[in-house]
Amino acid sequence: MYIGLDLGTSGLKGIVIDDSQTILAEATAPLTVSRKADGWSEQDPADWITAAQTVLGALKSKLSLDGVRAIGLSGHMHGATLLDASDAVLRPCILWNDTRSSAEAAALDADPRFRALTGNIVFPGFTAPKIDWVRHNEPEIFAKLAKVLLPKDYLRLWLTGEHVAEMSDAAGTSWLDTGARAWSDDLLEATHLTRDNMPRLVEGSDVSGTLRADIAAQFGLPSNVVVAGGGGDNAASAVGVGVVKSGDAFISLGTSGVLFAACDAYSPDAASAVHTFCHALPDTWHQMGVILAAADAMNWFGRVMGAAPAELTGALGPLTAPARTLFLPYLGGERTPHNDATIRASFLHLDHATDSAAMTRAVLEGVTFAVRDSYDALTSTGTPIERLIAVGGGSKSDYWVQAIATMLGMPIGLPVAGDYGGAFGAARLGLMAATGETTAAASAPQIARTIDPVPALQDAFLARHADYQAAYKALKTLN
Ligand code: XUL
Repeated sequence: MYIGLDLGTSGLKGIVIDDSQTILAEATAPLTVSRKADGWSEQDPADWITAAQTVLGALKSKLSLDGVRAIGLSGHMHGATLLDASDAVLRPCILWNDTRSSAEAAALDADPRFRALTGNIVFPGFTAPKIDWVRHNEPEIFAKLAKVLLPKDYLRLWLTGEHVAEMSDAAGTSWLDTGARAWSDDLLEATHLTRDNMPRLVEGSDVSGTLRADIAAQFGLPSNVVVAGGGGDNAASAVGVGVVKSGDAFISLGTSGVLFAACDAYSPDAASAVHTFCHALPDTWHQMGVILAAADAMNWFGRVMGAAPAELTGALGPLTAPARTLFLPYLGGERTPHNDATIRASFLHLDHATDSAAMTRAVLEGVTFAVRDSYDALTSTGTPIERLIAVGGGSKSDYWVQAIATMLGMPIGLPVAGDYGGAFGAARLGLMAATGETTAAASAPQIARTIDPVPALQDAFLARHADYQAAYKALKTLN
């Protein structure tokens, strides 16, 4: 048996699979985000450990864990977890969707070495500019900084006692030479750090350490359980749905929205605002367009309306042409294609007839237009997208998936009922690390249904997408 743990922004999920990759049990524990100021987004790492203990306890109550051979880890990327020399956490983790360090990011991005070595823009959400923000604004904390860990790697520290990162998540720090799959001393030095501040690097399917004896005893696990490198949540999800070679792609409609394509070679194009990262498997890379608020935009709108997002989307009926009401989903700025930390969301063209259904459609369409922006950015780099499947909470809305299929002009597969998030991919990476098996990551799930585009609505979606792009430009002049 193999356990996958996925540290998500809104909750930690654990699953147990057997040797044939059948899911035997799963459990989740909720997490919250603290937003102390506009653009800020933080979590307390102690809450991740509590959530992991809850999840492991719940799994143990469902089945005996004494046959577990490995644990794989997945987690939200880019977070800066700052530790002192005794591994004590120095401040709350600054998360992937926190944009406070936009000035620091712009300054680092102006140093040509960053784009040349990492293959990416230095986005404010990435890890390195956050450390510069701490150095400028919390010098007493920076003075004590001994190690910087990514969120899931802090869980690994708790599980194994070791400081280890893996390539896919490390590529989102702005300190990795992404082509060489190694920390860059030059980039570390540019942010006043050295390799001593960094964890050791492994591949996602490698063993990173062994489970601590006291944790094994607490949850009824054997004494020799290994912990696999794992992956950043998007790379781990890709492993879970077999998106590991050029041509394969998926769209994830989670808190963030991600259009993810696997690449057989490293071919970055930083200026496009597409992310080019290592995959969680050796010698493989991936590209993605990232939308900061996807299902998160629906969650926000649901909170405003006092209704569950599924209730709002479930009441929509069949797909219609986009309404005149437009929504731009930039609640906390945007990454691809704008790299814009200061833009904020807007509704345009509200009238006396605008009701909650019209506004719900506008929110779904706004994210759909953002997906098209990412699709244009990705395909402009020459990355092929031949097959597309949808995962994540938002993919439960046929209306939304069909809007995206129509906007992209391509069918989207929906996997058979199951769990294809980061936890499943992480469990697969655990299986690979424990057994040395190399093909587990390549198997794609059975497709339950394919959602086809609606050709009659395609022109209307394209026209509205052009309005959406014009609206962004117009809003910029007001910022
Ligand atoms: C990817 C990104 C998000 C987070 C949270 O670059 O920032 O997808 O990993 O899921």
